[in-house]
Amino acid sequence: MSAKRQFRIWRGDETGGDLQDYMVEVNEGEVVLDVIHRLQATDAPDLACRWNCKAGKCGSCSMEINGKPRLSCMTRMSTFGDDETVTVTPLRTFPVIRDLVTDVSFNYEKARETPAFAPPPDVAPGDYRMQQVDVERSQEFRKCIECFLCQNVCHVIRDHEENKQAFSGPRYFIRAAELDMHPLDTRTDRKEYAQAEQGLGFCNITKCCTEVCPEHIKITDNGIIPMKERVVDRRYDPLVWLGSKIFRRGETPQTSVTTARQGSATPSSATRSGIHSHAGAPTTRGPRRRRRAASTGIGRCPTRPRRRSTTGAGFR
Ligand code: SF4
Ligand code: SF4
Ligand code: FES
Repeated sequence: MSAKRQFRIWRGDETGGDLQDYMVEVNEGEVVLDVIHRLQATDAPDLACRWNCKAGKCGSCSMEINGKPRLSCMTRMSTFGDDETVTVTPLRTFPVIRDLVTDVSFNYEKARETPAFAPPPDVAPGDYRMQQVDVERSQEFRKCIECFLCQNVCHVIRDHEENKQAFSGPRYFIRAAELDMHPLDTRTDRKEYAQAEQGLGFCNITKCCTEVCPEHIKITDNGIIPMKERVVDRRYDPLVWLGSKIFRRGETPQTSVTTARQGSATPSSATRSGIHSHAGAPTTRGPRRRRRAASTGIGRCPTRPRRRSTTGAGFR
């Protein structure tokens, strides 16, 4: 069964644009991307949109639909009421190229900056062995399709272009967490690097990224919060504290990243660039403090209505 439905689609480029109205035929079982393709075939042949697989696996078709970041190929028209206008806009965190296509190269720059997997030099490729439990721990993060919906919704960079230099975003926090959990990764400073160079401290675990992830990766509970906890453990571990008493200040054996960051509450690159932050203290330790931080609503995701925080649930 088909029916005419009202669509509002943002048209324009980097110089500006506005929403344009279309009445378009919608058939039963269709998704938003089907309707955009129909518009391209009828009323708007020059409408630009990015897509590839139409199966929720390539991560190309990310856009904001009725204000919520979604994959257009996985958003069924039956999600909306019969009389509801469907408004489609490009991802807001990234610069528009044209219509619904944005320049997501920020994410590739952050990917290049993230230190790569560092296997032991004396083990040949093909001889890597790890326990199944270790495989399962990081498997969740390997499901990422790089749709960048989590990056788009993160308030640290969504409305603060100036923060992009010092903040890698949730997609790269889970990459760092995955490598930190990897038993064959020889780098031992992943968490210090995440804190000092990736801007982990600016995340105040609002969980907006987790809520929009189409792969249902528990970005905050399983990636970011454990990383924050490990950063705190490293900085406030009693043995490290004892070492700082035995060794004179500045001689405490630490990694280069930690040494560079000693005594500072914000990431070094952030301090250099004068980063704006909602987050305040770099991390919160313990469920009660995490709940308090989340319940303040500071930096709350603009696309999410206020509701009771569940931060801390599922924490391991
Ligand atoms: S929890 Fe919130 S602040 Fe932290 S990375 Fe996710 S969206 Fe950003
Ligand atoms: S973590 Fe989820 S939301 Fe973020 S890029 Fe990967 S699949 Fe997309
Ligand atoms: S077209 Fe590939 S995820 Fe939507």
